[in-house]
Amino acid sequence: GPGRATAVAHANIALIKYWGKADETLVLPRTSSLSLTLDGLATTTTVTFTGARSDSLSLDGEEQSGEALRRVSRFLDIVRGLAGIEQHAQVDSRNDGPTAAGLASSASGFAALALAASAAAGLELSSRELSRLARRGSGSACRSIFGGLVVWRAGHDDLSSFAEPLDCPIPLAVLVAQVNAGRKAISSREAMRRTVASSPLYEAWVQRSAVDLEDALSALRAGDLGAAGTIFEGNALGMHATMISARPAIVYWEPDTVRVLDAVHRARDAGLPVWATMDAGPNVKVVTSAELATEAAAWLSTRLENIPVSVNCCGPAARLISE
Ligand code: DP6
Repeated sequence: GPGRATAVAHANIALIKYWGKADETLVLPRTSSLSLTLDGLATTTTVTFTGARSDSLSLDGEEQSGEALRRVSRFLDIVRGLAGIEQHAQVDSRNDGPTAAGLASSASGFAALALAASAAAGLELSSRELSRLARRGSGSACRSIFGGLVVWRAGHDDLSSFAEPLDCPIPLAVLVAQVNAGRKAISSREAMRRTVASSPLYEAWVQRSAVDLEDALSALRAGDLGAAGTIFEGNALGMHATMISARPAIVYWEPDTVRVLDAVHRARDAGLPVWATMDAGPNVKVVTSAELATEAAAWLSTRLENIPVSVNCCGPAARLISE
């Protein structure tokens, strides 16, 4: 009968960043990346293959047209190709966090879509195949197929580029200091394209990133959160340096972004294990130990009036939910 499936996937925050593609169509990254899947910020997506004349997409109850729908439709073409079907689909997707505010909704979104669409199309994919499929929708989505600490090895072609879960020797948490929940002006897709094409710092960041990943993994294995956190913060700020040096420059930072970064620095001076990371937006995420997450959030909250700080723990893999 007509296939329908519902899946849930959670956002992930990169600790070592993905920034820049080697192949735009296959979404092959220039660098490997490392992330933590969160327990909040989930997307729940239902896909129904119907007899309709075109695909449709509803996001948080609002019917979409234009680029959002085209991107989902191109993704569904890949699923249809794999399943050997031609039916169009109705996609209903709901986020429990703000969409496109640099809070990684494309990661949870395409991970949930990959799982729901492939199941609705009758495909039974392994989690590695799902990760490769989700990658085609949005690079960071390949990591949200898995829970906890996840590494995405860049690979060199469609078959070799996928994410895998890792044991996390140190229980980590991520605080989100929400500077601005609005939609970002430049998509990460466009911003990374411009950075790769024009930043004189980009190749240096790529080179360093490989070293950062291996050093961070060794530090985590050795239980040295201080060493790992220093690398995470440096890798993210280095990525922003590549954007700021692109032409025209891409500056996601707002005045409150700098206030939060300064507070994180002071919290560290006060002895708290906190390191900042940022994605393609003005919000600051703070990597910390699960044990001290509540204390660190409270410390930052009292010093950052009007900037909400939330605590996110390690979250689960993407999963199907029964109707
Ligand atoms: C800064 O995965 O959103 O969050 O592959 O073009 O869809 P596309 O990009 P996307 O980029 C994420 C960039 C980042 C860093 C990261 O999550 O690793």
